[in-house]
Amino acid sequence: MHYYSLGLIPHKRHTQFRKPDGSLYQEELFSTEGFSDLYSLLYHCQPPTQILQVDEPVSVQPKIVQDRQLKHRCLKGFQLKAESDYLKSRKAVLVNDDCKIILSAPTNSQTAYFYKNADADEVIFVHQGSGILHTMYGQLSFAYGDYLVIPRGTIYKIHFDQPENRLLIVESNGPISFPKRYRNEYGQLMEHSPFCERDIRKPVHLETNDQQGDFLVYIKKQDMLYPYHYQNHPFDIVGWDGYVYPFAFSIHDFEPITGRVHQPPPVHQTFDGKNFVICSFVPRLFDYHPLAIPAPYNHSNIDSDEVLYYVDGDFMSRKHVERGMITLHPGGIPHGPHPGTIEKSIGAKETKELAVMVDTFRPLLMTEFAAGLEDPDYHKSWLTQRPAEGGILMNNITS
Ligand SMILES: [Fe+2]
Repeated sequence: MHYYSLGLIPHKRHTQFRKPDGSLYQEELFSTEGFSDLYSLLYHCQPPTQILQVDEPVSVQPKIVQDRQLKHRCLKGFQLKAESDYLKSRKAVLVNDDCKIILSAPTNSQTAYFYKNADADEVIFVHQGSGILHTMYGQLSFAYGDYLVIPRGTIYKIHFDQPENRLLIVESNGPISFPKRYRNEYGQLMEHSPFCERDIRKPVHLETNDQQGDFLVYIKKQDMLYPYHYQNHPFDIVGWDGYVYPFAFSIHDFEPITGRVHQPPPVHQTFDGKNFVICSFVPRLFDYHPLAIPAPYNHSNIDSDEVLYYVDGDFMSRKHVERGMITLHPGGIPHGPHPGTIEKSIGAKETKELAVMVDTFRPLLMTEFAAGLEDPDYHKSWLTQRPAEGGILMNNITS
């Protein structure tokens, strides 16, 4: 997160800033973590407070299958049926008190309403589709492989270029940031970071609609969607500056860190959340020690649950590993390569795999909706007697 400014702002904060007709613009402080962390100052044409009406809220709270779970899971994400409405298409599959992992396959752009998530920052990974994210801070164009990071409280509207869209969305109840070890004391990304400021796309084309009418904004708070009718267009900002704004980062701009022997998952970390991380597995050269084993070792993730979302790559040629598949390897039971894949990996020079990983420090719970996408036998898939033809041969991702 870095200082940025778009549009017109007054020289001095909290001072008179007037429109051409002599009336005042309306200043809004958009602060996070109370008044103690990042903030932006926005200048509206009209007060952002004028509410015409609030309709009855609708619950979007996910229902979990059991309140305690310990099982390896595999969900076939692309079996999620497409839906026309963006908000209705969002289906939580794995949740805890820190984050929600959501799949979405919307066919239509948002036209009738705006949306604001007041519960959580959102990280939208675009697996399929392209378009423009319209926000009160300006526009972000997006395409395959983009992460869209949207701070909580940001009002937005998504436009899709086509009906075939597949999104992986992580809602984060704490702020999303870049890993601290990659930032210097001034916040600049350091030389050993796998990405830098040039890779971060900031909003452009500020939309200033000084219009009055009836503007429907669905506001998500405590897992309820509140239909708010505002008198002023939510995108009526003439300028803003600060450190809080949505941005885009492409997984294709993540530069992999490799080594002589197998590198641990933290080298793939891209984002930091509260009690969870998001990592990017991208095409890369394999380990180059003469006796290296590119496949990961078995390991016990005692303190975290590990979720892998398969995007693209050479796992396509393997049986039963599909695009959009999600695996959950919960803390408490070891996991590792499937039978035959360790030997098979030896001598391999590179991988084309592309995947997103979400590791949480608190257990994730599968939702009732996700149960309909589950391969019920996945937890037995490490048995050697399970025929390879019918088994799940995982790729070399260290999850
Ligand atoms: Fe793992």
